[in-house]
Amino acid sequence: MSVIAVVGAQWGDEGKGKIVDMLAEKASMVIRFSGGPNAGHTVHNPYGEFSLHLVPSGIFYPHTACIIGSGVVVSPSVLLDELEQLWKKGVNTSKLLVSTRAHLIMPYHIILDRLEEQAKGAGALGTTRSGVGPAYADKVARLGIRAGDLADKEGLLRRLRFVLEQKNLILTRIHGAPPLSVEEVYDQLCQYADRLAAFIRETEPIISQAVERNEPILLEGAQGTLLDIDFGTYPYVTSSSVIAAGAFAGAGLHPVKMDHILGIMKAYTTRVGAGPMPTELGDETGERIRQIAQEYGVTTGRPRRCGWFDAVATRYSALINGFSGVALTRLDVLDAFDSIKVCTKYKADGKIIDQFPSSTLQLERCQPVYDEVPGWQSPTAHLRRFQDLPPLAQSYVRKLEHLVGCPINIISVGPHREQTIVTKAIL
Ligand code: IMP
Repeated sequence: MSVIAVVGAQWGDEGKGKIVDMLAEKASMVIRFSGGPNAGHTVHNPYGEFSLHLVPSGIFYPHTACIIGSGVVVSPSVLLDELEQLWKKGVNTSKLLVSTRAHLIMPYHIILDRLEEQAKGAGALGTTRSGVGPAYADKVARLGIRAGDLADKEGLLRRLRFVLEQKNLILTRIHGAPPLSVEEVYDQLCQYADRLAAFIRETEPIISQAVERNEPILLEGAQGTLLDIDFGTYPYVTSSSVIAAGAFAGAGLHPVKMDHILGIMKAYTTRVGAGPMPTELGDETGERIRQIAQEYGVTTGRPRRCGWFDAVATRYSALINGFSGVALTRLDVLDAFDSIKVCTKYKADGKIIDQFPSSTLQLERCQPVYDEVPGWQSPTAHLRRFQDLPPLAQSYVRKLEHLVGCPINIISVGPHREQTIVTKAIL
């Protein structure tokens, strides 16, 4: 059996979708274990170009079962739109399943995400406003509605009346917003229930059987370690456990040996939303990276904050996740630069720091300390073997490997499946 977790090593948008799409060919199951429609996994393959928010990136292989696990919060409307998009391009989705235990994003979650962000003013987190935070908050507050609840319409109505009464108090009394009608929300939920019924299952026994049969299973993460609810740059984080340790609970898989914990990291750094990012470049170099890489959010279209590679942050990600290897993505973006910087340490309060601080206030004061290396200044997108990379690109990869303390198993030099250099086969 091979159980492989694929986890973001930075602030999300590292290119997990492409790597999962590639690895899923040999997997019998891909389980998405965290996040919700805030994620945007871009996949380019023979079916076309897709932005997947909820459906696991293994959906393009008819032999691969795709499961949306209990740790994901599901927006029924986003899921249905995504299915339409896949059907239009001829993708077979009959092996998609949604855990009965996955919580649903309700219309009031989306409204509250917006209102709460507005109320925070300058302290806003810059969320994707997809209702993810409020849905996880309700899960923990035991006010959630789960995918499995859609199967019992009478029970659903009772639960909705109870929950909506409380939500309407918050909407009207705290935010001065209009209340939602139970009947309207219920009618909409019933329509979703009919359309999604075929996908909603007790997925945990199915996963357990796959483990018993020693099948190769991929655990697909969303966002990145630095956005993790516990280990990210709190409070500028998302609301779920996005790290490898969260994969078991979020997938509905009992702890087994993970054969590989693959961290995904870009050859530079990006972040969307508020919060500290020590290597952010507010100058023309940052803009140049953004333009070359088209660093705009898949879910929100927002320009991403861009900067040089931060080895302090990624080394910390490796420590938190126990990466056994790394996939380095978007190396080709740096092809044209005559010199490239890598942050190896921080400087704060007159001291050199080489560990990622747990205090976000301290991180805000951290200035990057850079090593500068010459760029290779030649295209790499067509190369398929490590030894064919320009020597300066090889040394850049080796430098990151050394700084992060993890072997780089995969190098991605373009968005398409074949634009990949594999230095160690994972599946
Ligand atoms: P939320 O997850 O929508 O609540 O947003 C919380 C923070 O996580 C914000 O800074 C978002 O920009 C960020 N975020 C959420 N999902 C993603 C993602 O898939 N990629 C990058 N950033 C994300």
